[in-house]
Amino acid sequence: MYSNKLYTPLRYPGGKAQFAPFIARLMEENGLAGGHYLEPYAGGAGVALELLFHGHAEHIHINDLDPAVHAFWVAVTQESDALLDLLHQTPVDMEQWFRWRSVLRGESTGTVVERGFATLFLNRTNRSGILKGGVIGGLAQSGTYKLDARFKKDVLAARIKKIAQHADHITVHCEDALALLSRATRLLPVRSLVYLDPPYFVKGRGLYRNYYEHQDHLAIARLLQSRQFRRPWLVSYDNVNEIRQMYELSRGLSYGLSYTAQQRYIGSEVMFFSQRLSVPDGAIPQSQLVA
Ligand SMILES: C[S@@+](CC[C@H](N)C(=O)[O-])C[C@H]1O[C@@H](n2cnc3c(N)ncnc32)[C@H](O)[C@@H]1O
Repeated sequence: MYSNKLYTPLRYPGGKAQFAPFIARLMEENGLAGGHYLEPYAGGAGVALELLFHGHAEHIHINDLDPAVHAFWVAVTQESDALLDLLHQTPVDMEQWFRWRSVLRGESTGTVVERGFATLFLNRTNRSGILKGGVIGGLAQSGTYKLDARFKKDVLAARIKKIAQHADHITVHCEDALALLSRATRLLPVRSLVYLDPPYFVKGRGLYRNYYEHQDHLAIARLLQSRQFRRPWLVSYDNVNEIRQMYELSRGLSYGLSYTAQQRYIGSEVMFFSQRLSVPDGAIPQSQLVA
């Protein structure tokens, strides 16, 4: 499989790093290689990091509205030595889990590095990386896997160092995606690509600390498809009627096949692309155009 976990220190449910080769081809085919790349809902930013490290993008913008996720990206890109110190010094046990959870929740104060480390600690010790979720192995630590099952310090340290080495080419933002996208023309040079991976329409609730209502999804769809928005973009979603309607002006590609009673096969996920973007053929296995 592709490198879902190769570069990002954060685990994300439904992380999209496997799309990086496709997005690299998209940039190549559309004369965008070597340009800027923005993820307004970055989470683990797996795609962005791969594009930067492999030279497909010259500069990446990592935005996430969750202040905990933002603090992590600030810590890695601006205070990596202090972050690495915390990583080396902190035992991975339940006492620390409670400590960092209280930092994450804002119950005890912390510097930006401490808040960033709290995000990393909880992301790597909670089930599925869900920040507001439960600890791996349960509070009694009686499960087969214990909280340190996904916490390999040497691997995490290597990833943090690699990102820090590229920090001059990374801008970190903590804005509502709609606000950030509203100034995309000023923020991004013409040779740029925006990839949006918003919270899923149906499954988004519960997974993240921020979630979207119907109106929020619609506002993004309207902005992207308006004349006012002048940078190439693609968006990925769960393949549901409401989303297909919002993006009916745009070409779509469905993938991730599943079975329904109405249609023999329907992609369970979907991508939509801005008007002038040429989409490489067959780049996503078993994908099909959405009518
Ligand atoms: C589907 S996840 C992104 C996962 C990411 N593509 C990856 O591969 O790791 C959605 C992210 O969007 C963030 N988010 C939710 N609402 C947002 C908003 N209005 N503006 C910016 N970010 C938001 C969440 O905090 C979450 O980290």
